Amino acid sequence: MERIIEIEKMKIENEYENSLRPKTWNDYIGQDKIKKNLQVFIEASKRRNESLDHVLFFGPPGLGKTTLAYLIATEMSANIKMTAAPMIEKSGDLAAILTNLQEGDVLFIDEIHRLSPAIEEVLYPAMEDFRLDIIIGSGPAAQTIKIDLPRFTLIGATTRAGMISSPLRDRFGMHFRLQFYSQNELGRIIQKASLKLNFACKEDAAQEMAKRCRGTPRIALRLLKRVRDFAQIHNEEFISKERAKYGLDELGVDEQGFDEMDIKFLRILLEAKGRPVGLSTISASLSEDEGTVEDVIEPYLIATGYIERTARGRIATVKSYELFKLSPMNMGLFKDADER
Ligand SMILES: Nc1ncnc2c1ncn2[C@@H]1O[C@H](COP(=O)(O)OP(=O)(O)OP(=O)(O)O)[C@@H](O)[C@H]1O
Ligand SMILES: [Mg+2]
Repeated sequence: MERIIEIEKMKIENEYENSLRPKTWNDYIGQDKIKKNLQVFIEASKRRNESLDHVLFFGPPGLGKTTLAYLIATEMSANIKMTAAPMIEKSGDLAAILTNLQEGDVLFIDEIHRLSPAIEEVLYPAMEDFRLDIIIGSGPAAQTIKIDLPRFTLIGATTRAGMISSPLRDRFGMHFRLQFYSQNELGRIIQKASLKLNFACKEDAAQEMAKRCRGTPRIALRLLKRVRDFAQIHNEEFISKERAKYGLDELGVDEQGFDEMDIKFLRILLEAKGRPVGLSTISASLSEDEGTVEDVIEPYLIATGYIERTARGRIATVKSYELFKLSPMNMGLFKDADER
């Protein structure tokens, strides 16, 4: 059942996102270092007439990992097979995927940290030696059959860098950590997407949305689509800055792009009055699992300097106090800012 839901989820996600997904390096804005490196490695392996070494992408959701996998396949003129770790339940599932690959194919495994140890074992020889070791029988009579596989490129993606086992991580020849995007980059992404949607968006309107999307292209594109709805309903032919502001306010996205969860998170830290707060306490207060807090909510707050991770827990920085118009020296003010 869970598997069907996962498949459905992937289908919906793909339909929704594929239309705006960059198809060329030129359309893929930002992540310049990753792009530059990948282009070199791709070119080199093409010159050697070899498949590209395995690639691992880390980073919070919506920053462009799946998109990069598609781009790599296009550049390598390779077919891409997409799957996600929760769909690979038995080692037989993985064996079937691997034996169906053609020479040079790209295999993309999303959420790769969720592979079970038994399945990882099957993957190791496949990644290292392009070989499948199948064990038949058990005990002393057990036999290993070795099957040669075509040379393929495995691309793994994960939002949880810390959860991936080190033997698996070490078998990837390239590791890339995706960064949050600058406001400028997001502005360009929004404008390019608006052209694809056939609905112009003024530069200052794009910047307004870019400011408020948590440094994340997926959120930027979602905001663009919703703001376009507001503009269309008002019979406007393009998105103006005023309409963007109006739409974003209607959607409840604040000036920093923080959503309700971010604000709740910061409040928990501020209420602790400088004492570090542990991850488990935070996730209990937010009713979110620790993984989501660590991988989805925290990275942006850390990257923008609102919180810090210490050995004893999380603390709010001066920037957070300022955001809530509090002085770290005078915690008594906290009540006044509660109306925020
Ligand atoms: N660098 C970029 N330039 C332009 N558009 C981008 C870029 N990165 C991502 N996008 C857009 O953002 C959307 C989300 O990207 P993508 O699906 O690649 O994220 P992801 O990192 O795989 O997320 P998840 O961890 O949730 O799977 C895509 O629809 C894509 O169009
Ligand atoms: Mg993805």
